[in-house]
Amino acid sequence: MNVTLILYESRYGTGKRVANFICPVLGPAKFFDIDDAPQDIKHYSNVVLVFSLYGYESCKKILNYMEENQIDFSKKKVALVCVGLSKKDGEKELYKIKSIINKEDALCEFIEGEMCINKLSKDDKNKIEVFCNKVKIPFGDLGKFNEDSVLELSKKLREYFNTPKFIPPTNITKKEIEDFLNRKNTCTLATGYEDYIRSTPIEYEYYDGNIYIISEGGLKFIGLSKNKKVCICVYENYTNMNNLCGLQISGDAEVLQPWCEEYIQALNRKGLKIENISKLPFDMNIIKVIPDKYEFLYSKFKNLGFDSKQIYIPK
Ligand SMILES: Cc1cc2nc3c(=O)[nH]c(=O)nc-3n(C[C@H](O)[C@H](O)[C@H](O)COP(=O)(O)O)c2cc1C
Repeated sequence: MNVTLILYESRYGTGKRVANFICPVLGPAKFFDIDDAPQDIKHYSNVVLVFSLYGYESCKKILNYMEENQIDFSKKKVALVCVGLSKKDGEKELYKIKSIINKEDALCEFIEGEMCINKLSKDDKNKIEVFCNKVKIPFGDLGKFNEDSVLELSKKLREYFNTPKFIPPTNITKKEIEDFLNRKNTCTLATGYEDYIRSTPIEYEYYDGNIYIISEGGLKFIGLSKNKKVCICVYENYTNMNNLCGLQISGDAEVLQPWCEEYIQALNRKGLKIENISKLPFDMNIIKVIPDKYEFLYSKFKNLGFDSKQIYIPK
C-alpha cells in the first residue's frame, strides 16, 4: 500500500498547518510532530519532511531523529517542504538537507511562512529585533502565509507520490478504460463554479474518445455556462478492496449547437429520430466532454502485475 508519513518540525504552528493541510490530500497518510515521530517507519513508502527555517537550527530535530533511530530513506520516496520568510534561505537549506539525508532525488518545495512578533518567545523576539536592526528593516510582523500555495503544493505532492511505478503499455490502459466505459451507461457529471457545485447522475455515450450527454436541461448548465472544466465519474459498487473499479475523467465540456452535424450524429447514434426531436416543444441539449485525463483505479491492473491505479492522458 502506498502510505505517506509526514513529519513536521514547527515552533509557532505554520509548519504544522502545512502538514495538517496536505495530509488528507496525500492519504492514506499520517502526520506527526517530530517530537512524537514513530521509531519504525516500515509501513510507509513515502515521507514528507516539513521544517521551518530557524537559521542554523533549521531541521535540527528531524535530523537528530533520523540519526537516533537510524532511519533509512534509501527505498522511500521523499519530499522536503521548507517553510520560511526567504526563498533564498529556503533553497539553500533544502539543498543542504537533501544531501545530508542522502536523497538527491527528493522533491524540494518552499512555502512562504509568517512571523507574528507577539507570538514569539522572549529569546526569539530578541533575536529578530537584533536581526531587523542589522539589516535595517522595521521590527514587526513579517511574511504572508497563503493557503492557496499549500493547496498547489498538495497537488504537486499527490502527483509526485501517486505516479504509478508499474505501468502497462498505453494501449492496454486505453482498452480497459474504453471497455469499461462501453460496458456502463451512467455517470456522475460534476459541474460548477465558485461555491456552486453539482454532481448529476446521467446517462452518457462514449464515442470516438469523447463523452456525449443528452439532456433536457437543468442546473448543471449554470456551472457549464461559467466553467467548461468538468469531471465525470463512472464506477462499480464497492464489494471489497480486491475488486475496485472507479474511473474519473477530467476534461472540457462544450454544449453542441443544435442541429450541427455532430449534434445530429449523436441523436442518430441514440436511435432518436430528428423529425421527432425537432417537433418537441422544448430544445434538447447535448453536452460533449473532451477528456484530458483519465484516472482509473481498477483491481484488474493489479492482477495483471501493474499498479491498480493508472493514468491515461489522451493525445
Ligand atoms: C528566531 C527566528 C529565526 C528565523 N530564521 C529564519 C531564517 O533564517 N530564514 C527565513 O527565511 N526565515 C526565518 N525565520 C522565519 C520563520 O521561518 C517563519 O516565521 C516560519 O513561518 C515559522 O514557522 P513555524 O510557525 O512553523 O515555526 C525565523 C524566525 C525566527 C523567530
